[in-house]
Amino acid sequence: MKIAVTGKGGVGKTTFAATLARLYADEGRHVLAADADPDANLGLALGFNEETLDSIIPISKMRKLVEERTGANSQNQFYTLNPKVDDIPDKYGKVCNGVKLLVLGTVETGGGGCVCPEHVMLKRIINNLVIHRDDVVILDMEAGLEHLGRGTTESMDAFVVVIEPGARSVQTYKNVKRLARDLGVSQVMVVANKVRNEEDEEFVRTRIPKEDLLGMIHYNTEVIDADRQGKSPYDFSQTVTREIIKIKEKIDQR
Ligand SMILES: Nc1ncnc2c1ncn2[C@@H]1O[C@H](COP(=O)(O)OP(=O)(O)OP(=O)(O)O)[C@@H](O)[C@H]1O
Ligand SMILES: [Mg+2]
Repeated sequence: MKIAVTGKGGVGKTTFAATLARLYADEGRHVLAADADPDANLGLALGFNEETLDSIIPISKMRKLVEERTGANSQNQFYTLNPKVDDIPDKYGKVCNGVKLLVLGTVETGGGGCVCPEHVMLKRIINNLVIHRDDVVILDMEAGLEHLGRGTTESMDAFVVVIEPGARSVQTYKNVKRLARDLGVSQVMVVANKVRNEEDEEFVRTRIPKEDLLGMIHYNTEVIDADRQGKSPYDFSQTVTREIIKIKEKIDQR
């Protein structure tokens, strides 16, 4: 199963992606959590220590590796569009709490038509992850919609759009849904986060079709405390983790 977690900036994508990854790892599943945000911070939310994270270089920044695999370098403008990448997650992923983290980085510039070697590498890694029946891939995306045009997410089984109870977030969900259809990703599901009260709940229920809504996560200062201490929300907030367990059950039912 491959899930891309997407949504507006700061809504809780990383919090949700990391907790979901930890829950699948608890079941003994092989979990690959891929950080596709240039401002990578999925590692902290998974419970990695800062020292380990500081030592990780995003794949897109590994110039030698990109050159070696694609054949592109300053002298050679021609390169392969299907570099060998199947060994990358095992070679460059780091494991903590049963989750393998792969920091992909991103490619600045380009837009949809970008075919620079780094982009080719990332796209190929994501689209060619060989996964077995019970394996789980969770992709923590950068905020916004730009990445949806880059061709890195079309192999996903589902998008989970994290929203806050607000009109702008709902707009983002609608836009993702439209773009996902164009990409051929049919499952677009919503998690409402930072829900504060009944009015928020009502807002979400009236704006998001029932069949798309996986569940809600309430506003909880324990998540903020975890973040302040650079810790995994999973280890910090049983309440939020319980809410995400319910959401996970819904995902599993699909
Ligand atoms: N349920 C919640 N209750 C309170 N605070 C939360 C909750 N979920 C997330 N937060 C806080 O909101 C902030 C943003 O969360 P997070 O980093 O998970 O969002 P994001 O969507 O990944 O952000 P970005 O777009 O920057 O990648 C963090 O400070 C986090 O602790
Ligand atoms: Mg994030």
